Amino acid sequence: MLQPVAKNMETEKVKHRYDRIAPLYDILEFPMENMVSARLRRELLSGIGGKILEVGIGTGKNLPYYPKNAMLTGIDISPGMLAHTRRKASELKIEIALSIMDTEKLAFSEGCFDFVVSTFVFCSVADPVRGLREIKRVLKTNGTALFLEHVRSENLFFGKLMDAVNPFVRKIIGPNINRRTVENIKNAGFTPVQIKSTKADIIKQIWAKPTSVYTGKQQRFRHESRKGT
Ligand SMILES: C[S@@+](CC[C@H](N)C(=O)[O-])C[C@H]1O[C@@H](n2cnc3c(N)ncnc32)[C@H](O)[C@@H]1O
Repeated sequence: MLQPVAKNMETEKVKHRYDRIAPLYDILEFPMENMVSARLRRELLSGIGGKILEVGIGTGKNLPYYPKNAMLTGIDISPGMLAHTRRKASELKIEIALSIMDTEKLAFSEGCFDFVVSTFVFCSVADPVRGLREIKRVLKTNGTALFLEHVRSENLFFGKLMDAVNPFVRKIIGPNINRRTVENIKNAGFTPVQIKSTKADIIKQIWAKPTSVYTGKQQRFRHESRKGT
């Protein structure tokens, strides 16, 4: 299914940037992937199943961590990145429905996924709260949204430093390094039921449920900080 991609200027810039970087993306990410991300992806995706949507699927780095019997759908704004996912899925013999689509305008009906997954995406999405509201819309009422995202540090000094440096980072490499993604997730109508942070609080795994159905009594909120990652 090919969806017309939004003509939002910022989104177009993001799309072109990732199309350009797509051939080198896995090579550039290799050190970070080996040292940190692979382990966090595996942990985030353990125990999920059913109908799963991954937004901003990129080059398909999460594919090896999905259960064999899951019904997978993946979307990305960049055809260049998506081409790598298509190749990897075929090599790994994984069935997945892939579409070029903007996470701010998902072409799925309400409440059709058990899980929605996003890893390192909401630093780039032009209007993150709008994208997160779309995730909530397509998620079943008792579904779970899973995030692995780098965010603005909660440390006063590092947070301010990230704010100061962000315009330069955006200009040179593109993504925002100071997104308040946990707040954005809440503003989009989710309740984070578990958050695990790296030592510097910059990389977070977040498990979130739609606030409207979250009782707060059945699930104990957990916020863990890791040492040494
Ligand atoms: C840093 S990469 C992460 C790729 C992959 N999720 C991973 O974990 O390696 C960000 C991805 O988000 C995609 N993206 C950014 N904004 C998007 C949007 N509005 N809708 C869909 N995909 C988007 C980019 O094209 C890119 O593939």
